[in-house]
Amino acid sequence: MEFFRLHKQNLADSGSYLDQLAIDVLTGLCAAPKHLPAKYFYDDVGSEIFQQITQHEDYYLTATEIEIITSIKDDLPGLIDEQEIDIIELGAGDGHKSQLIIESFLGIGCRVNFYPIDISEKAMVILHENIKPHKNLTVHGVIAEYFDGLRLVRTKSTNKQLLLFLGSNIGNFDRVQNQGFLRKLWMSLNVSDYILLGFDLKKDVSKLTSAYNDSDGLTAQFNLNLLQRINSELGGNFNLDKFQHFGVYNPVIGAMESYVLSTETQEVYISALQRTFSFAAYEPIHLEYSFKFAPGDIEFLCQQTGFEMVKHYTDSNHYFIDSLWKVIKE
Ligand code: AVI
Repeated sequence: MEFFRLHKQNLADSGSYLDQLAIDVLTGLCAAPKHLPAKYFYDDVGSEIFQQITQHEDYYLTATEIEIITSIKDDLPGLIDEQEIDIIELGAGDGHKSQLIIESFLGIGCRVNFYPIDISEKAMVILHENIKPHKNLTVHGVIAEYFDGLRLVRTKSTNKQLLLFLGSNIGNFDRVQNQGFLRKLWMSLNVSDYILLGFDLKKDVSKLTSAYNDSDGLTAQFNLNLLQRINSELGGNFNLDKFQHFGVYNPVIGAMESYVLSTETQEVYISALQRTFSFAAYEPIHLEYSFKFAPGDIEFLCQQTGFEMVKHYTDSNHYFIDSLWKVIKE
């Protein structure tokens, strides 16, 4: 596998990544209510914990999406029907789902160029171990933020593209951001390219809340790791024992919301910011939204953002939809 490291280069060159983290932490902890951006979950430790979450039985999303992809994998290559294809995946995770899709194209004699894009080098290493070599497959791992990675892939890709954005990653954007994100994707694709998007559906609240409050406390560790990251990268002194994970469904906006709560009145000093932050007892820091969808929301998004719906694929419980869209341009 060939690797391109855009993110690490930036880090070494200018420290701009750390500067951005510092500004985002300062902005979020000065706000009322306090918040921190979910994109900082995914350092190497966070990516590792997230992999464990995806294998936990309470977090039904991953197993459900694997069920869908297993059942549709022979349908996709026939629909797309190319001799050679560039499969680009944003946030590829452990590569299990990617492998199923890649295999289905290889199975009909198609050549596949696979471009996984992920911010975490660790995630890329795990992925690499899970993608089986094949004479008709080349893998180009891109360690970068999504759109930096896509810009690089655009300079290399010459075939029809199938872009994968699975795992309900789209749910971590709010309902305005997701349209902006999809329009940016649309801009980076050519007419008649495809995207396969994973959407977690609205469902019984107890199912949702157990997924984000798993019985082994992995989600709690995942959220608290963000405070640990501020400690190690910005010289913070968060005491993790004095913060508690809280995941709750908000039916008004249709999203799971993740918080950490300060379990007592306390102060936290962050040396890179030369600033102390005060917390009241049980004051929240908002960390993440995981939006849930109705099938109609998916169709609306597709139509609003320049795509044509090809097919919805769902699982036996109707928990999740993988939706295949085609780029339309005039
Ligand atoms: C990556 N993303 C789709 C996950 C989700 O379900 O929102 C992140 C996550 N947060 C807590 N558990 C999983």
